[in-house]
Amino acid sequence: MIFGQDHLLGIEPLHPDEIRSLLDLADRYAEQNRSGQRPDPVLAGLTQINMFFENSTRTQASFELAGKRLGADVMNMGVATSSVKKGETLIDTALTLNAMRPDLLVVRHGSSGAVNLLASKVNCAVLNAGDGRHEHPTQALLDALTIRRAKGRLHRLTVAICGDIAHSRVARSNIHLLGKMENRVRLIGPPTLLPPGAVDWGVEVFDDMAEGLAGADVVMMLRLQKERMDGGFIPSEREYFHRFGLDAEKLAKARDDAIVMHPGPMNRGVEIDGTIADDINRSVIQEQVEMGVAVRMAAMDLLARNLKARNTPRRVMV
Ligand code: NCD
Repeated sequence: MIFGQDHLLGIEPLHPDEIRSLLDLADRYAEQNRSGQRPDPVLAGLTQINMFFENSTRTQASFELAGKRLGADVMNMGVATSSVKKGETLIDTALTLNAMRPDLLVVRHGSSGAVNLLASKVNCAVLNAGDGRHEHPTQALLDALTIRRAKGRLHRLTVAICGDIAHSRVARSNIHLLGKMENRVRLIGPPTLLPPGAVDWGVEVFDDMAEGLAGADVVMMLRLQKERMDGGFIPSEREYFHRFGLDAEKLAKARDDAIVMHPGPMNRGVEIDGTIADDINRSVIQEQVEMGVAVRMAAMDLLARNLKARNTPRRVMV
């Protein structure tokens, strides 16, 4: 098993073999979860603290479930009710938590880079559950596992990532991961929602859905992140849906067996037609949620192994 990391801060620092190892383990957890079999409590005796400075449904719930399934003591820090609201800085909060000696710290924060900064101040394994528009590594890993299970491989696929790329940490982590595994990545969106410099990321860029979706194996839709916009990015939601929302007509341009993905939460009728999202023959959105638990189990299991290996006092041979 190859996984040499102390933290999971992003996809960018990972080696393709580390990604493969994590996905293989997650696949086994996914099967165990399906069969209802109880996994070995590999996190027993360890403390996991979830600290979410931004709203979350799926990510927080699945990190909690993943930790509990593997036997960890899991605590959710209610950031809304904590001293963070009284003006305590991120670092002070982190140092306070660190004094409680957690083993795993799961953090979501609105500022890009905040989680990396925090990881440098604490002595436990830190998992990035999304930082600003920077990275969301476990989302890209669960997307990768979903694709690998649906398509039977995770290389030489054409993956179209569509919509609000500029504000999306999901897009960034997916671009890194899919590129490392040698897939063709296309970004499709209005020029206002494509980050400047995207053409230098080794991707193809389109502002027309029909052109960008032609022959795609995977169609990944993104939410319009209105909370990160300060106005003026799109003319109107109606117009946006007309040009960039995924409906049956646009999906017909992709391969007949193309799968449809969305990280959630979805704006039905804005970036995706509700009927497509619910079409179990095309949409793997529910599988993505299911794989989220398995991927987070695998990530915490691997980090805990490295933590234990690091903390084991070395025997000195004389
Ligand atoms: C994403 C996020 O928070 O970055 N959601 C998620 O984790 N499933 C995407 C989004 O908010 O649109």
